[in-house]
Amino acid sequence: MNARLQCIACEKNFPIDEIRYTCDCGNLLSVERDAIGVGRDVFDARRASRKLIDQSGVWRFREAVLDVADIVTHPEGGTRLYERGGIFFKHEGENPTGSFKDRGMTVAMTQAKRLGARAVACASTGNTSASLAAYAAQAGLRAIVFIPSGKVAAGKLAQTLAYGATALAVRGDFDAAMRLVREACDRLGIYLVNSINPFRIEGQKTIVWELLQDLEWSAPDWIVVPAGNLGNTSAFGKALREAHGAGWIDRLPRLAAIQASGANPFFRSFREAFAQRHRVSAETIASAIRIGDPVSYEKAVGAIRATNGVVEQVTDEELMAAKREIDAMGIGCEPASATTLAGVRKLKTSGVMRDGEQIVCVLTGHILKDPDAILKGVGSIEIEPTIEAVEKALTMSPRA
Ligand code: F0G
Repeated sequence: MNARLQCIACEKNFPIDEIRYTCDCGNLLSVERDAIGVGRDVFDARRASRKLIDQSGVWRFREAVLDVADIVTHPEGGTRLYERGGIFFKHEGENPTGSFKDRGMTVAMTQAKRLGARAVACASTGNTSASLAAYAAQAGLRAIVFIPSGKVAAGKLAQTLAYGATALAVRGDFDAAMRLVREACDRLGIYLVNSINPFRIEGQKTIVWELLQDLEWSAPDWIVVPAGNLGNTSAFGKALREAHGAGWIDRLPRLAAIQASGANPFFRSFREAFAQRHRVSAETIASAIRIGDPVSYEKAVGAIRATNGVVEQVTDEELMAAKREIDAMGIGCEPASATTLAGVRKLKTSGVMRDGEQIVCVLTGHILKDPDAILKGVGSIEIEPTIEAVEKALTMSPRA
């Protein structure tokens, strides 16, 4: 395997199997390889294969992800691409645990096993923890998750516990939980599988590759992604750089990363041409992205710059209106995912996105992840068990 860990700033190299998440200079690490060797034909042929490893929308691209024999896979990926009203939606909520996190987790958990880890941990707003818990259960590893107390959506917390993880509800926000898990992993020798772990990024790249494959390798004009801890934005930038470098696509789509306006440190930096990094105290109904100090900031800046991308912000009202629209299409998603459509609306109004451009929104989480966000706005009509009550409720008269 020609892969190595490389610092994104000073480019110092480390062996691929060294347990470390940052360089000696403090910056993040990235998995880099000299050449990929296979390309579109191989990936397309695998799509028709019945082997589990080829069926996985992650391991189908294994030479460009992590080329090892023993993998922990559900399988994952293979999500649908919908077209509605001229916009494409890649629904990553269709992954085994209902979010895109499974694509990163299958790779991080495969690496955890290779490294002989006995326990794995993450800080999470809920989706990473559910994914970690499921993959750790499959791998036979102890799962420990650090979650912001009282701030995780019901579906995610229930899943995490059901799969058997130990959940530590930290009295503090996600950013506090993130700081604590890093310290705990260092001190207690636990393998950290947040997106600061470069193997998570390798798996999440395949969201972009699979959607390019769905589009028969014709690059769209825009790929739109919700932005929280900025792992996905980073992964998308790397995926596009590698796909373009390998000649799988002949032009680079632009990335649009969308934040909630109450959790917008990346947007603030973008507005100042990334002159400085911001940290905010985050608040938004989209609890998945209630993050004020994203760990993958530097990588994400690189992704936006390299793709001539943009960062936009949307209010809770705007993202919830977009969620109702996506739900009413019969597709549905959790609130954070709907920042994408809300962002598209705003970027079209401001003229950044133009008519006729092909846009792919990545829906990151399943509609059932956050039932409370739905039930605040709608309810069923309670009736007596009589036909009169049905008629009255439906305000329909009997057929003449
Ligand atoms: N959408 C959903 C549904 C998420 O769960 C997350 C992140 C994001 C978007 C943002 O992605 O962090 O890569 O910028 N969820 C993490 C978690 C923080 O713990 O589940 P990002």
